[in-house]
Amino acid sequence: MPRSDASIANLPRHVAIIMDGNGRWARKRHLPRAAGHVSGVSTVRAVVRAAIDIRLENLTLYAFSSENWKRPALEINHLMGLFRSYFREDIEELVRRNVRMRIIGSRRRAAPDILAMIEDGEARTAGNDGLNLTFAFDYGAQEEIAAAARELAEAAVRGELDPTAITTSLFATHLSTGELPEPDLVIRTGGERRLSNFLLWQSAYAELVFAETLWPDFSRNEFLDALNAFARRERRFGAVEPEAAA
Ligand code: FPP
Repeated sequence: MPRSDASIANLPRHVAIIMDGNGRWARKRHLPRAAGHVSGVSTVRAVVRAAIDIRLENLTLYAFSSENWKRPALEINHLMGLFRSYFREDIEELVRRNVRMRIIGSRRRAAPDILAMIEDGEARTAGNDGLNLTFAFDYGAQEEIAAAARELAEAAVRGELDPTAITTSLFATHLSTGELPEPDLVIRTGGERRLSNFLLWQSAYAELVFAETLWPDFSRNEFLDALNAFARRERRFGAVEPEAAA
């Protein structure tokens, strides 16, 4: 029985997910790793639909890291095939359900046809104002931060920026997440407890939820459970509780 939308109080504004465990899911079943990724796409659909249903504002999914290019060519080709079919087949539903879809990450290495599909999807959903669905694709946070520093340094060298004007909020506007609020909840499936170069700047104050479940087994209900766990946590952003301050 799906949880009702009304049961989630104190919804985070931005949930970011590291979708890990596809390979292990496949290995446990004596299947090729590719089978885990195929099953992982079904979980992507289930989680995106849940996010739409509960009227989450922002969902960011780590689909392909800049380090993932180091995987065997066969696995990369298979993953790219899945991205192709996802962006081809799911965009209609995203348009219809008022989702605004975007990617963050480098656009230099993706195959031109995938990039064209992504850009078409971004353009077709640009006017939507429901869920902001962001795929981190060929993304790495350290490179993102270095690129922001480069942009600011170049502006300073041109004499257009006083270095003393560089604040955390100015810096954040040069990151690829632009106007998105910082994630208040980062979920990682698959049992590992690390951030793997994902939204390192933006997650400074995020609550972290690590789920043992492998991504293909992660369900709508487990996603909603993570949101409920977030709702129960107390967030202080480095301050103390008002009573304790007295
Ligand atoms: C990590 O599992 C997952 C990935 C590297 C890719 C994530 C991709 C998907 C969920 C499918 C495609 C997504 C879209 C948006 C169409 P892993 O292979 O590192 O698992 P392991 O740690 O068990 O080896």
